Amino acid sequence: ERLPALLAAMPKAELHIHIEGSLEPEMIFALAQRNGVALPYADVEALRRAYAFTDLQSFLDIYYAGASVLLYEQDFYDMARAYLLRAAQDNVVHAEIFFDPQTHTARGVAMETVVNGLYRATQDAQAELGTSSSLILCFLRHLSEEDAFATLEQAQPFLDRIIGVGLDSSEVGNPPEKFARVFARCGELGLHRVAHAGEEGPAAYIWSALDVLKVERIDHGVQAIQDPALMRRLAEERIALTVCPLSNLKLCVFPELAQHNIRQLLDAGLAATVNSDDPAYFGGYLNQNFTELFAAVPELTSQHAWQLAHNSFAASFVPDEQRRAWQ
Ligand code: ADE
Ligand code: ZN
Repeated sequence: ERLPALLAAMPKAELHIHIEGSLEPEMIFALAQRNGVALPYADVEALRRAYAFTDLQSFLDIYYAGASVLLYEQDFYDMARAYLLRAAQDNVVHAEIFFDPQTHTARGVAMETVVNGLYRATQDAQAELGTSSSLILCFLRHLSEEDAFATLEQAQPFLDRIIGVGLDSSEVGNPPEKFARVFARCGELGLHRVAHAGEEGPAAYIWSALDVLKVERIDHGVQAIQDPALMRRLAEERIALTVCPLSNLKLCVFPELAQHNIRQLLDAGLAATVNSDDPAYFGGYLNQNFTELFAAVPELTSQHAWQLAHNSFAASFVPDEQRRAWQ
């Protein structure tokens, strides 16, 4: 292994973590029991055996099934609390946390239940761990724009607890254009905007995330490599990519970690960052993403490590004053 001590010890921000993707199999079973929810898996081992993904959709099917055990405010609190404790061990000093409210409201869970549980965990983490964190509401792109508008309406009373919106779920066939109007409304409301683009989908979706949705960061974005003009734009405008190496490996975006293109992205001047995406499903939290990536790609140096940590703070949505204190 290379540089593991530096990679583990360096302070870092995590900008691409789905909180429902931090739900470990043990917690899924504990919550299922606590809430009386039946699961189509006999035990923790059987559930873990199902974590053999071939693409994004094969993962999403299991990820939404896992989230079905979340019913009460305390469930959301416990899930976020566990993630923030684990992240602190990896020297994550700031996290911008995605959540998927439609997964929960579709089951009759109130938006208030979701937001209150998650938000209380972020407040406690600040007080007890010194970890700052904030919440980004993601719209599910396999659902309609009308459904996204209804979700924004439900979130309206809680917008002081949400720093921005994102776009996730099944990418191919659900282009950014589908959400043009709801993202425009979010812009008027003063919310930060990000979107998953170019994970499995084409570079064209990255262009439209920037030009139509007006996003400030691209989640994943690794398919930008297919389009030299897009690469130049991302570099010139310092648009951050929140890259997730172990996710890309487990969802077969790259056949091997050694073939991951993050070094090419960095060397082309793009503001790439490293993130865990859904750590309970993809085999590791943030430091594991760093150490496995650096072990697999020998061209990555301590200079790249420093750049990645720097990029994570530079691309975060923290106020400039706090950012200056970190850098
Ligand atoms: N939801 C959770 N993880 C995701 C990913 N990697 N891509 C799209 N939607 C997601
Ligand atoms: Zn993601």
